[in-house]
Amino acid sequence: MKSTGIPKVTVHTLAKMKAEHRKISMLTAYDASFARLVDQAGVDIILVGDSLGMVVQGAGNTLPVTMDEMIYHCRSVARGTERAQVVGDMPFMSYQASIEDGIRNAGRLVKEGGVEAVKLEGGADYAELASRLVKIGIPVMGHIGLTPQSLHAMGGFKVQGRSATQAKKLLEDARALEQAGCYAVVLEGIPRELAEQITAAISIPTIGIGAGVHCDGQVLVIYDLLGMNEEFRPKFVKRYDNLAVRIRTAVEQYITEVRNEQFPDEEHSFSKDAPARPEAATPYSSARAAAGGGAGERDPDASGAACIPLPFPRPKK
Ligand code: KIV
Repeated sequence: MKSTGIPKVTVHTLAKMKAEHRKISMLTAYDASFARLVDQAGVDIILVGDSLGMVVQGAGNTLPVTMDEMIYHCRSVARGTERAQVVGDMPFMSYQASIEDGIRNAGRLVKEGGVEAVKLEGGADYAELASRLVKIGIPVMGHIGLTPQSLHAMGGFKVQGRSATQAKKLLEDARALEQAGCYAVVLEGIPRELAEQITAAISIPTIGIGAGVHCDGQVLVIYDLLGMNEEFRPKFVKRYDNLAVRIRTAVEQYITEVRNEQFPDEEHSFSKDAPARPEAATPYSSARAAAGGGAGERDPDASGAACIPLPFPRPKK
């Protein structure tokens, strides 16, 4: 539990949810503002996914993402989150070369990034690493099926586990991760019948993405759910909004109003006359003042005026 008194979602909460057949919701976030919104909406787990390589950095896959980049985004998300469990992805080559690499880098995500668990791609081959991390006290979420870090070995982003041999291997992988002490496992891009079988076979929660309705929970990339990329329309994504259109429309309106001198109007500017009600400094200058910047950091035009509430009330980390 954090200092605000809001009970945190923990590995125990999630185990209980599986036992009680309550579905787990998980979404990605990469910054404090999105983290705050999805947390306030009541999501159970926020994943700082290495998908940030694609949706934030614009790369074609997740392979270029570095540990330092993951730590930067994890720290931002941890600052914006009160209730949800924050999970950080182990990026490509942060754990594949040796157990020692994996331990050191998982430790960095917890210590420097402020996450409460790490996620790593791979099955039985990574059970030993998972077990070592769990013994150290770092909860581990597994990730099997379509594992984007193995993109080149898979020959593309392809559904996995359609053949009997592949399905058997994935079931064994899930069992190996469970035995290693993982508290949950992501099942990505596999037939729903196989996901149902794995979910019934293991005691830890399964979180599906492109794996059907029978998983214990679901995860989506927040930008996909919000419809931020009009070109990206995979079968497993349901769009709950069309922000690409809405953001462009808002920005076009802003540009028009700037060009027509409709913005800023009187309501959005300061005057040399005394304000009828307290004027606000910008949230950014308020944040600096709250962090110890003092009155000198405030908008000079609003000196002596009350600050508007901060989006993040206390700098926590
Ligand atoms: O990187 C990511 O966002 C993920 C999820 C899609 C499961 O691994």
